[in-house]
Amino acid sequence: MQRIVVLTGAGISQESGLQTFRGPDGLWNNEHIEDICTPEGFRRDPLRVDRFYNNLRAGLTAVQPNAAHLALAGLEQAARDGRWQGHLTIITQNIDDLHERAGSHDVIHMHGELLRLRCTGCGATPAWHGDCFPDTPCPACHGPTLRPDIVWFGEMPYHMDTITQRLAACDLFVAIGTSGVVYPAAGFVDSVADHADTMLFNLEARSGPSPFDQTILGPATHTVPAWTQALLAQ
Ligand code: APR
Repeated sequence: MQRIVVLTGAGISQESGLQTFRGPDGLWNNEHIEDICTPEGFRRDPLRVDRFYNNLRAGLTAVQPNAAHLALAGLEQAARDGRWQGHLTIITQNIDDLHERAGSHDVIHMHGELLRLRCTGCGATPAWHGDCFPDTPCPACHGPTLRPDIVWFGEMPYHMDTITQRLAACDLFVAIGTSGVVYPAAGFVDSVADHADTMLFNLEARSGPSPFDQTILGPATHTVPAWTQALLAQ
């Protein structure tokens, strides 16, 4: 039984039409992280933060999963059908729902989800819907305490216990479409180096020495399906 953990970043959704955070047309070129992606920024100006995430939500409804998302979902399906003797876990830094819409089920959103809100009062995580505003009361406790269910800088990522367990048990770690500059995700490759092979799928080579055993360059919609097809042909 091959146990694969895949870490995805914004690059896997880029060919679906969603912006990445860094690079030529990155989201952070036009926004200040401290104003948009921190608890302090939300406290200062919740409407501005809500506008940013509502724009991302509007963009999400206009796009579809791409061949890279579908290839990973196909690998998980092959395991369920018995066509592949393996287990696939997707840990994503992405807040979009494209892995789920592609058909993946075992998806861990370590930075939260765009289509959920979180109540800072009772901890409920209601689905976001079109007419949610910063003063929309929590449907569970009715407090004016809803915020985007996104992990902001300075906050602990979600599901780290499960993530640590899956990384400890994997024999192959694959990173797809991530710049590897944000921790703890950026450190996952080092944490598995003593017991797993490692592969990086990215559009361009990263600067400096690579901690990955293998680096496959090119658009994820080409490289990821080629990889999963080769796995299934084994
Ligand atoms: N195919 C493969 N890789 C791609 C593609 C593509 N079509 N397009 C872009 N990439 C690569 C880029 O080369 C870059 O290395 O995807 C990476 C995207 O990097 P970032 O924009 O930094 O996104 P990410 O790594 O997901 O950011 C991590 O930072 O701002 C926070 O919380 C945010 O989860 C995010 C975290």
